[in-house]
Amino acid sequence: MDRLKGKIALVTGGAQGIGREICLAFLREGAELVISADMQLGEELPNLRQVQLNVTNREEIAEFVANLKEELGRIDVLVNNAGITRDALLEKMKPEMWNLVLDVNLTGVFNMTQAIAPVMMANGKGSIINISSAAGVYGNIGQSNYAATKAGVVGLTYTWAKELPRKGADIRTNAIAPGLIMTDMMKTVPDKVLEPIREKTPLKRLGTPQEIANTALFLASDESSFINGQVLSVDGGLRL
Ligand SMILES: NC(=O)c1ccc[n+]([C@@H]2O[C@H](COP(=O)([O-])OP(=O)(O)OC[C@H]3O[C@@H](n4cnc5c(N)ncnc54)[C@H](O)[C@@H]3O)[C@@H](O)[C@H]2O)c1
Repeated sequence: MDRLKGKIALVTGGAQGIGREICLAFLREGAELVISADMQLGEELPNLRQVQLNVTNREEIAEFVANLKEELGRIDVLVNNAGITRDALLEKMKPEMWNLVLDVNLTGVFNMTQAIAPVMMANGKGSIINISSAAGVYGNIGQSNYAATKAGVVGLTYTWAKELPRKGADIRTNAIAPGLIMTDMMKTVPDKVLEPIREKTPLKRLGTPQEIANTALFLASDESSFINGQVLSVDGGLRL
């Protein structure tokens, strides 16, 4: 009940889906405050603060983080979860689809971490969790843009795992690579695509947002205090 006792966590895209479950898990485990930064607002909960924020808007982020710093003085956990898809086969992928997905899924992660990491460094500690994807590690038909961003997030994870602790700060950066998880994002994926993936997964099912949230909880908590620069596959064995 108190694995995150006293911690302040910021979760991007926390209004629904995986981000929402991560907020709920953090609250359940005693987080002092969870802030969801999302373009939309979800259902209200005690100790959950919802802020409307677009991770691609650097001005919005600068103002938001300056206010947080003044009010709270620290952020213990950052979960870069906000993400979108705009799927198409390579020959049909329009530059707008490429650019939008790159902007949200990759530049958004850079924007948020560039703003929050100095707050963590000033406090000498923090845990950053980037939500990547099996598509980023193994590729996926129709997801050139998405796979590129999720592979990019892995590169950012390894880089920050080395770069952020270099002045003695206890800042860990890890990533989660979910397989197929049943959320709204999956509603756009036709069943003829989902079925073979389900079949190829040794556990013969899709994952739940709670299963990703449980992993984020572990990486956010002090239980994972020596885990840094790890990409954890949570995919029922899909990759094998
Ligand atoms: N669902 C899956 O199968 C799956 C698999 C692997 C990885 N992921 C990743 O998990 C994360 C969450 O996915 P989900 O399935 O919960 O998606 P979702 O679409 O249910 O939720 C995404 C949330 O992000 C928010 N968001 C989108 N653009 C934003 C922006 N510019 N600024 C702030 N917030 C923004 C949305 O409003 C939404 O609340 C994503 O990064 C996704 O790529 C999902």
